[in-house]
Amino acid sequence: MGPAPSADRIESMKELDLAGTPLSTNVRQEARRASTRGRTIVVTSGKGGVGKTTTTANLGTGLADLGKQVAVVDADVGLRNLDVVLGLENRIRKHLLDVIERKGTIDEALVRDRLRQSLFLLPAAQNREKDEVPQAAMVALIQELQNRFDFVLIDCPAGIEHGFRNAVAGAAEAIIVTTPEVSAVRDADRIIGLLPSHLAPKLIVNRVRPGMVKEGTMMSVDDVNAILRLELIGVVPDEKDIIIATNRGTPVIDIEGSQTGAAFRRIVRRLLGEAIPIPPFHPKRNVVANFLSSLGIGRS
Ligand SMILES: Nc1ncnc2c1ncn2[C@@H]1O[C@H](COP(=O)(O)OP(=O)(O)O)[C@@H](O)[C@H]1O
Ligand SMILES: [Mg+2]
Repeated sequence: MGPAPSADRIESMKELDLAGTPLSTNVRQEARRASTRGRTIVVTSGKGGVGKTTTTANLGTGLADLGKQVAVVDADVGLRNLDVVLGLENRIRKHLLDVIERKGTIDEALVRDRLRQSLFLLPAAQNREKDEVPQAAMVALIQELQNRFDFVLIDCPAGIEHGFRNAVAGAAEAIIVTTPEVSAVRDADRIIGLLPSHLAPKLIVNRVRPGMVKEGTMMSVDDVNAILRLELIGVVPDEKDIIIATNRGTPVIDIEGSQTGAAFRRIVRRLLGEAIPIPPFHPKRNVVANFLSSLGIGRS
């Protein structure tokens, strides 16, 4: 495992102007001042494949189930897949860049979920480049959504380039997703250093395998957060239910009995301010181990 970041390094990273230009700084400040209705949360990680899209889809779904008006925004221009995780890929008419380029309205682009009346997807363009989205226009778009929805969840692309900066610029809060792997934690650390401090990032540790943690072959949540030192808002186990869910085009929250789904539902309630403790996850035991232990044989 890499060394913990020095306070100096973190400070120097925070000093970097995320947006890079005075114009975009003004835009961000304006966005914060404007009267708003909802909460805008960017879901980010640095590293790809750690569960940002899965998290965005499931938190959006869970919030809608609790009666919130929710927009989930796919900011991963060129590599969109939030639509697939939500099973909405066949209903896309216009996308985010169409709205920005005035080729369509927000209402034409928003896709209502099949099951939840209060959940909407703003899809990304698939055949375009992230650089084609101007930051000021992106901030204005998020602002518009914020005026109309209780929650706007922004699914951030991997990396720290233009697409990341765009996804972050309009947000007022951030959720950092990482897996308990050194490379993912290192990238998360880097991203945290680049986020404006007012976003007050919260942490989700995804794909935890309690059995491996117990054996000492996987970092524990405490190991991860000893490095990142964020408010922990959730721990999500690694489960094959996610594959079943993705193949069905439904969020894992809808898979009956799924531990992963239950973990996301708890995160939703924490986001709404409820004090739900993070339960300890126990390694799954196989039938033989359970039988031996019932006889008082083997490891407990
Ligand atoms: N808790 C989990 N258990 C099992 N598989 C997961 C879990 N979270 C994400 N995955 C899988 O990992 C892959 C990457 O997830 P995704 O949400 O697309 O990541 P990102 O948006 O960060 O690139 C997907 O195939 C997804 O189904
Ligand atoms: Mg993604």
